[in-house]
Amino acid sequence: MGSVDIPREQWATRIGFIFAAVGSAVGLGNIWRFPFQVGQEGGAAFLLVYLLFIILIGFPAMLVEFVVGRYTERNPVGALKEVGSGAWAYIGWIFVATGFVILSYYSVVAGWTIRYTLLGLQDGYLADAAEAEGQFVELASGLDAILFHALFMAVVITIVAYGIQRGIELAVKVMVPAIIVITVGMAAYAFTLDGASEAYAYYLSPEFSVIAAEWTSILPAAAGQAFFTLSLGMGVMITYASYLGEDRNLAEDGAIVIGFDTAIAFITGLIVFPILFTAGVDPADPGAGAIFVSLAAAFGDLTLGWLIGTIFFGTVAIAALSSAISLMEVVVSYIIDERGVDRSRAAIGIGSGMFLLGIPSAYDLVLLDLFDLFADQILLVLGGLLLTVLVGWLSSDLAVRELERGIGDLGSIGTAWIWAVRVPVVLALLAALYLGVLEYIEFLQEGFLPWLDEQ
Ligand code: PFF
Repeated sequence: MGSVDIPREQWATRIGFIFAAVGSAVGLGNIWRFPFQVGQEGGAAFLLVYLLFIILIGFPAMLVEFVVGRYTERNPVGALKEVGSGAWAYIGWIFVATGFVILSYYSVVAGWTIRYTLLGLQDGYLADAAEAEGQFVELASGLDAILFHALFMAVVITIVAYGIQRGIELAVKVMVPAIIVITVGMAAYAFTLDGASEAYAYYLSPEFSVIAAEWTSILPAAAGQAFFTLSLGMGVMITYASYLGEDRNLAEDGAIVIGFDTAIAFITGLIVFPILFTAGVDPADPGAGAIFVSLAAAFGDLTLGWLIGTIFFGTVAIAALSSAISLMEVVVSYIIDERGVDRSRAAIGIGSGMFLLGIPSAYDLVLLDLFDLFADQILLVLGGLLLTVLVGWLSSDLAVRELERGIGDLGSIGTAWIWAVRVPVVLALLAALYLGVLEYIEFLQEGFLPWLDEQ
């Protein structure tokens, strides 16, 4: 297999693994992407479909990654070579490619969050929506964006270079509790705002007619978001579970991780929408600039908004960091395991490559969309689909036996899990992939090509 024997590190503690997985799951997906998806896809209607997808699809799919990781104790490429034969053995490559693409632009957006944290401390935020928008356009692309993208990537490289216990585990043990405490605190603050009740109505009472009318866009968006937010479909959970030595209850760990991730996304909605409604902003409008334009302008408007905004953007930056390290770890673990490169070199090399690939995204927002949509609605879903077919249909005995380690005889629960993977997960991912490809083509025709013409 071309692999080199280097002793593999393991998590020092159970909580270390859980925090790392929660840290990976909770990130820009929860705080930046989730509210604007809710806004674009019809408010509470989207929330409902999303929650259903988390339970029906996200949970079984996460267990699939956990069992593959713990069973093989390898990076995603090596793991898939071991579990799948023939063409299936190459799924790991899709994971590594996806990680590479996602972190390239993820780091650009994370760079904005650092920039906006500093903005609060320097001059505060601009209350006028048009001015805030102008400021975002200025900061989101160009030299500023590239500098902060570089800064963020450098921090990620440093943590990953320190390894599992001294780097990742230590970092997430500080970051994850901080994220939880601050988001809950901010939601309590948002509750006191004037727009809160209107916001809760929008966010929490679904109109079923919206789902019926918009399902072709709600479905892929919800599936993509469920996968993205749980860090599924690209081998992060395979990688993290590969550092588990003991026989643990993977189902319990998965439920804890999913519970935290969903709670943080949900709570973020309780922060963002009251602030937007209080400032009189229609949540359907903002799009990808949501938290950086509308929310920043709202911070400009509120008493002590600079302070609240600084805390908010600082938290987003921390959440992004704990996710970014997991993305880099997927690729780095592959280079270490299969190529025998030492960890620091692997981190520096891979991080530099990701930085370069991210430059187009830091150059223009259209290019960032080009990468984001491709990775999120196509690559992630494709990788997840192939993995679930492989594990659900071709290697199910092995998977059930692995899940039973640390739990005991699963009986019919194991069968139920495998059938959840075989049918609902596979079908949802197939549908999401199909619709996601259609949406991507539409974006190419209506967003990207006109942009290219203008250049
Ligand atoms: N789950 C992260 C978030 O919600 O921001 C993003 C992410 C991390 C996606 C790792 C995919 C992944 F493999």
